[in-house]
Amino acid sequence: MSFRKDFLWGGAVAAHQLEGGWQEGGKGISIADVMTAGGNGIPRRITDGVLPGENYPNHDAIDFYHHYKEDIAMFAEMGFKAFRTSIAWTRIYPNGDDEEPNEEGLKFYDDMFDTLHKYGIEPVITLQHFEMPYNLAKKYNGFMDKRCIGFFEKFARTVFTRYKGKVHYWMTFNEINNQAASPTDHNLIQEGGVLTTNDNPDNEYMMYQSGINELIASARAVQIGHGIDPENKIGCMIGYNPVYPATCNPKDMMEFTTANHIKYWFIDVHAVGEVPHYLEKYWARKGYQIDISDKEREELRKGKVDYIGFSYYMSFATAWREGNDHYDFSEGTALLDKNSKAVSDVVNNPYLKKTDWGWPIDPLGLRYSLNLLYDKYHLPMMIVENGMGAYDTVEKDGSVNDDYRIAYLRAHIEAMREAVDEDGVDLLGYQMWAPIDIVSASSGEMDKRYGFIYVNKNNAGEGDLSRSKKKSFYWYQKVIATNGEDLG
Ligand code: BG6
Repeated sequence: MSFRKDFLWGGAVAAHQLEGGWQEGGKGISIADVMTAGGNGIPRRITDGVLPGENYPNHDAIDFYHHYKEDIAMFAEMGFKAFRTSIAWTRIYPNGDDEEPNEEGLKFYDDMFDTLHKYGIEPVITLQHFEMPYNLAKKYNGFMDKRCIGFFEKFARTVFTRYKGKVHYWMTFNEINNQAASPTDHNLIQEGGVLTTNDNPDNEYMMYQSGINELIASARAVQIGHGIDPENKIGCMIGYNPVYPATCNPKDMMEFTTANHIKYWFIDVHAVGEVPHYLEKYWARKGYQIDISDKEREELRKGKVDYIGFSYYMSFATAWREGNDHYDFSEGTALLDKNSKAVSDVVNNPYLKKTDWGWPIDPLGLRYSLNLLYDKYHLPMMIVENGMGAYDTVEKDGSVNDDYRIAYLRAHIEAMREAVDEDGVDLLGYQMWAPIDIVSASSGEMDKRYGFIYVNKNNAGEGDLSRSKKKSFYWYQKVIATNGEDLG
């Protein structure tokens, strides 16, 4: 037997990418609601509030808010054991700093979780997935202000209390480390909710300060969640796209070490409870006075996560270059630019093919990542995102023959099986991204499709939102039914 009997096969999404209903049920405006549509190679923009004449694809998304029963029934038909989504913070606290939670928002998730349990599907819940209340970003500059730690704590306490017994698997911040790779993507320090401009010289400092504040907020949430229900398993969520050295030149090795430090120091804080030594040194070199008290450091130690959740889409390669002898972080931070194009010290990996959006396809890298994370942290892991965005063609008979998607997922699941079978890593589950077509986070497109379920809506917003099964729907159904034995 490769996978444990209770292996959590399922799929993952985020509230803002599928729910729609942006003003329904008392919901407030989130940062995702002020993000315009971009395109393949065209960045999204953050506007100063919701402006007339702009296109905000997350406002309506695929209207899961009204379709969730039908959609969950289709997940159940595939045999899902788990479903990962986020609780939109603005449905619970519309402005983030409200006194009382919004009952209608709480009720919505109650009903959704009940529907999942009706089919024996375990909810896996992210507290904050790129959807901070816009008011907190505007009024407090997001997690640059320590008061936001308290607002997050309140939000976490409210949902841990309300959904006690209904939700056992949680994650605090989605891809908390993404901001280290491109701190000014969309003029926003993502997750931290810090509004900025691409040319602001303080971006790097703000990324570290808001990142540390989020990590403190995460550690508090872990302690609160354990206190409310000792059965809770609370993980971190890391965007894990490993960086390889381009060659065995020791200079490339050093460059690779630095790049991995830049992107993944967050895991050390989550899992070990300490700010890593190299980061303290770097802050001192740069003269960054990061505000973190002894008491907060103690909280980080007490709020270590129970498991490592991570997304895996691709890998990168990096090489030393003339003029970057010091392996300085600032020389290598921008691994991706705002158009998701590799820049800076990222080099092309000639061994890998790419998706239509230029994301390198590297299944073996998933086995490598599982090994590396398990060797280093000795914690159970869950793959909480893995998938391939592609252009789909609907045939005259309505079918979508997405063999490319099946091939991508098959190769990654095989690599995951080898990591479990041959290397002995402790893996709790696999949530592919995303079981149903939704709005792309990076580009705002609908036509960058990941789903087993096709949603009739295009980039222009046209379509009747009807759902239909792609070829991959039946393939995944078989994978789950055989607990990953039959990947054919
Ligand atoms: C991850 C995010 O970075 O990648 C998701 O957690 C996102 O929110 C996913 O949707 C895929 O990226 P994209 O840009 O293709 O939607």
